[in-house]
Amino acid sequence: METDTITVQQLTHGLQGQLTVPGDKSISHRVAILGALAHGSMRVRNYLCSEDCLNTLRAMQQLGAQVTLGDCPQNFTLTGTGMQPTAPQADIDCGNSGTGMRLMAGVLAALPFRSRMYGDSSLCSRPMNRIITPLGQMGARIRACGAKAGCAPLEIDGGKLSTIDYTLPMASAQVKSAVLLAGMLTEGTTRVHQPAITRDHTERLFAHFGIPCSVSEDRLNIAVQGPVTYKANDITVPGDISSAAFWMVAASILPGSKLTLNNVGLNPTRNAIITVLQRMGADIHIDTVSSTGEPYGNITVTTPQRFVGTEVLPHEIPNLIDEIPVLAVAAAFAEGSTTIRHAAELRVKESDRITTTVQNLRAMGAEVEEFEDGMVIHGGKPLHGAVMDSYGDHRIAMSFLMAGLRAEGATTLLHCTNINTSYPGFKEHLQQLIS
Ligand code: S3P
Repeated sequence: METDTITVQQLTHGLQGQLTVPGDKSISHRVAILGALAHGSMRVRNYLCSEDCLNTLRAMQQLGAQVTLGDCPQNFTLTGTGMQPTAPQADIDCGNSGTGMRLMAGVLAALPFRSRMYGDSSLCSRPMNRIITPLGQMGARIRACGAKAGCAPLEIDGGKLSTIDYTLPMASAQVKSAVLLAGMLTEGTTRVHQPAITRDHTERLFAHFGIPCSVSEDRLNIAVQGPVTYKANDITVPGDISSAAFWMVAASILPGSKLTLNNVGLNPTRNAIITVLQRMGADIHIDTVSSTGEPYGNITVTTPQRFVGTEVLPHEIPNLIDEIPVLAVAAAFAEGSTTIRHAAELRVKESDRITTTVQNLRAMGAEVEEFEDGMVIHGGKPLHGAVMDSYGDHRIAMSFLMAGLRAEGATTLLHCTNINTSYPGFKEHLQQLIS
């Protein structure tokens, strides 16, 4: 029977062998959305069949896109609506996914019908004004109807929008992408300026589909020219570096490890976890398989000689934002202190990841200081197992299971079902590596 609780014991051996993590979550959402508007059919390979991305795919089917399954659920043919989507007959369930809801809001705001999106209690407590404000300036009519102000469910009366020249108040790829997706459906040039470089999967997929988009040399200014029509184009989604990060950290903190992670996405706007772990002394070898489109390769992690604390630089934060809980776990096992600041965005993720990470680190005996915008971890103290909540947050659950592999005794994480939102098959991979 599927259980909501996972317990691990301290491992007496390292992680050995090879693993292929599932497809990238951010790219999968975007492939579903952009493929659904394309003319014609495309083969999608290695789509992430997690709850989050399946919700987005189902939403696109509600708009008229067709999915024909291939040899396995991750491989299918997606037939787009050719820019003629139909009004959804039912409310759209976004589950736990901020990315799904925010990106789809950009599209739905520009389409000529009414729609309504809802999600689980975590999603319904996350801020939506960050997309409602710029989309509203483009003329979108979006109402946040949640019990909490500015939160989902969202009701959208879609229609023709006008272009915008928008400076993001925070480094958010979701907000950037919501505006760019609305811009692609709007006549004229829509411009977005970001305060720091954020993941650029939307821009790369625009190039993949031949959607006219320009990016400045410093990558901070993006412009899209709408309205667009484009043809479907086959795609293979690389493995998710955010999922690989759990094993990279585990192999770095467990003596006797040598683990290869196959076909992991190495997009330079996503790979700061590798840079930071290497700065801490991690022994990470990268064998690049492809450097075009979305680059990817095989990552081999061997237990390092020495593992030391570091300071995460402000510009690195957006590039490893989802890996911070597991980086904090790594820091707890490193000698000396690790400083993670300028990361207030963590407070509005699937849980308040500053509080949840700090609480769980302390429960295991780590010394950690909490700040409004981050934490300082004083590493090197031996940690002990504990019973901890994952607060329904997939990344908190997986991060502290990694800590449990190194900590003395048994570690139990409660409420782990949400691991399925990003990493289906995680339990099987864990079982494979620990047995
Ligand atoms: C994502 C962007 C990030 C990240 C999220 C996925 C995306 O969120 O935390 O998991 O796919 O664009 P923000 O844009 O809110 O920083």
